[in-house]
Amino acid sequence: MADGTRPSRYDILFEPVRIGPKVAKNRFFQVPHCNGGGYRDPSAVAEMRRTKAEGGWGVIMTEQTEIHPSSEITPFIEQHLWEDKDIPAMAAMAEAMKSHGALAGIQLAYSGINGPNLYSREVPLAVTGGPILTFTPDPVQARTLDREDIADLRRWFRAAFRRSRQAGFDIICLYGAHGFGIFQHFLSRATNRRDDEYGGTLENRARFLREVVEEAREETKGEMAISLRLSLHEGGALGFSNAELRDFIAMHADLPDLWDLAQGTWEECSATSRFAGEGAQEGLVAGIRALTPKPVVGVGRFTGPDAMVRQIRAGILDFIGAARPSIADPFLPRKIEEGRIEEIRECIGCNICVSGDMTGGISRCTQNTAFMEEWRKGWHPERVRPKGRSETVLVVGAGPAGLEAALQAARRGYRVTLAEAEETLGGRVTRERALPGLAAWGRVADYRTGLIAPMANVEVYRGSRLTADDVLALGAEHVAIATGARWRRDVVARRHLAPVPTDAVMPVFTPDDLMGGHGPAGQRVVLYDDDHFYMGSVLAEWLVARGCGVDLVTPGVKVAEWTEKTLEQGRIMRRLLSLGVRLHLSKAPEAIGADRVTLACIWTGEMSDLPAEAVVMVTSRLPEDGLYRALKARAGDWSGAGIASVRLIGDAAAPGPIAWATYAGRRFAEEIDTEDHRGDVPSFRREIAGLEPGPSLLPPPEGA
Ligand SMILES: Cc1cc2nc3c(=O)[nH]c(=O)nc-3n(C[C@H](O)[C@H](O)[C@H](O)COP(=O)(O)O)c2cc1C
Ligand code: SF4
Repeated sequence: MADGTRPSRYDILFEPVRIGPKVAKNRFFQVPHCNGGGYRDPSAVAEMRRTKAEGGWGVIMTEQTEIHPSSEITPFIEQHLWEDKDIPAMAAMAEAMKSHGALAGIQLAYSGINGPNLYSREVPLAVTGGPILTFTPDPVQARTLDREDIADLRRWFRAAFRRSRQAGFDIICLYGAHGFGIFQHFLSRATNRRDDEYGGTLENRARFLREVVEEAREETKGEMAISLRLSLHEGGALGFSNAELRDFIAMHADLPDLWDLAQGTWEECSATSRFAGEGAQEGLVAGIRALTPKPVVGVGRFTGPDAMVRQIRAGILDFIGAARPSIADPFLPRKIEEGRIEEIRECIGCNICVSGDMTGGISRCTQNTAFMEEWRKGWHPERVRPKGRSETVLVVGAGPAGLEAALQAARRGYRVTLAEAEETLGGRVTRERALPGLAAWGRVADYRTGLIAPMANVEVYRGSRLTADDVLALGAEHVAIATGARWRRDVVARRHLAPVPTDAVMPVFTPDDLMGGHGPAGQRVVLYDDDHFYMGSVLAEWLVARGCGVDLVTPGVKVAEWTEKTLEQGRIMRRLLSLGVRLHLSKAPEAIGADRVTLACIWTGEMSDLPAEAVVMVTSRLPEDGLYRALKARAGDWSGAGIASVRLIGDAAAPGPIAWATYAGRRFAEEIDTEDHRGDVPSFRREIAGLEPGPSLLPPPEGA
């Protein structure tokens, strides 16, 4: 509510809840999530977690923390707790997490059959040996743990418990979900095919977990809470099913201090909004609370307080677990607490955050432009630096980049003019939100337009396509050109750097045409996808819904290959096949005729013809930078007009995902009235590995 009080129906979310020896101040539980920074960027990660503490979370967890070099998942960058040397970085993290009264939890992981050990070069150890199961088919196998190894592993866990305590954490979370943690590998008949006392019956498969929990209590002297993160359902004939999980919990109702339950694979658990809505795991978790006296946390991309309250009132969950909603809005609990519901920056479920982890880059968030820039750039999810000496800012274009630029510049205190050529604000998200499965993407525009609307220092002009003369006449001191991009109508992208012969009779459409409502209906369509992200598959769905028969052609060996980084590729494949879309992989058009498309195999060059009545090109985009170039050509007029700087940002500079555009908007706003180093120094702080003193291990040269 505007007066800062919350509706009383949300009070239940702010009740304290006991977790073993600790008490959480409320029911908001930030479940573990990695961030692409991990051990490489400890201060950046700690500062990111600090914003969650400030934002009011009752419990804040680290990402998975590898306890031993015999199990590491390079190229993914997680935390390490391999030796005492790792304690200071983790202690800094714990301190940041606890800075506003949250409980700090550390998730301990031993990846077993998932860890190829590409960095440590140790032989991987698994419950049952076999090829490493991970996202990439590394040509590596794990050896089966023997009894001595199991004793070693228990000792390594003990050392990790001691180190976690020394680092100042309150909660230890044992990772056994998403197919990633050794505890799940022991529990699941798919990964545990042992015939000793650790295999066979559920009782036996749970033995290792029982032993480790007991040792955790001993090692932490009962002062830390112990939680188990387990898979709600692991599919497949041999997997650890939801029914077996329930049996396990009923048999071990008192084992941990908290049950942290998450869907079986990471793809299922962190499903994008295209494939799963809020609370999608409810069916798998409902009823489990009745099996145990210990509190239960569950997840489901919860962003709405009413949905959260329902989970508690219906007796499904004790804690509202959130990874992505806490990334998109670290201040989610505080906004609910203070009744500022309309200020919640809702996660759009795009999984760009996941892609940061999958690529070994650093994670970004489409909605929260400060994510992982809190320490690197001093950005904050809710605050911006105060205004500099200038007064006025013009932003041309109200897509994701322009809206973020205008919002953050206005928050800094500048007088902002926002001009948009269309009547509706939002740019590309206004068009894309109408596509199948992408409705939640509209939140990028809704959040920002909602905040901008009441701001007295922002003037918005719709239906205003500005010329260079207009910009010069307006004379704002700083100008951002955020005019977006348009899709190409030819094959030019990665495979082809020049167009191929095309018969003018064949109707060729772009994604912009289809999003504008102009496209084939009831025809046989060849859709060529050399973009490899979501757009090609989304438009294939759109075309099927219009009664078209679709042949999807791509030079990729898979459809929508980059969506592996957002955990969607498998679901996209299943959906396209179920819709009857015909897939032509490793192929690209060589010519477009009046009634056919001639394809070439990218490996052999073998040609084939596909009949077609229309073609849709999902290839690459052209920046709409005409206004910027016109202004650059008149740079001599800027100072006379009062203009100090003109910046090209977002898709108009270099087309990319929406997250790249919102980031560019934030960057423009943050850098107004700061010194422009023109790239001579990095624009962000980074940590450099400390040099280890010590003699060379190489043999001394002869005669030395
Ligand atoms: C970027 C990202 C990284 C994640 N890393 C971990 C992790 O290290 N350990 C873990 O148990 N779960 C991890 N998860 C899964 C989340 O904890 C959570 O179970 C899942 O995202 C569903 O919750 P949500 O809908 O609130 O995001 C990760 C999720 C995301 C989005
Ligand atoms: S990147 Fe997308 S999915 Fe991830 S938290 Fe941000 S909005 Fe949500």
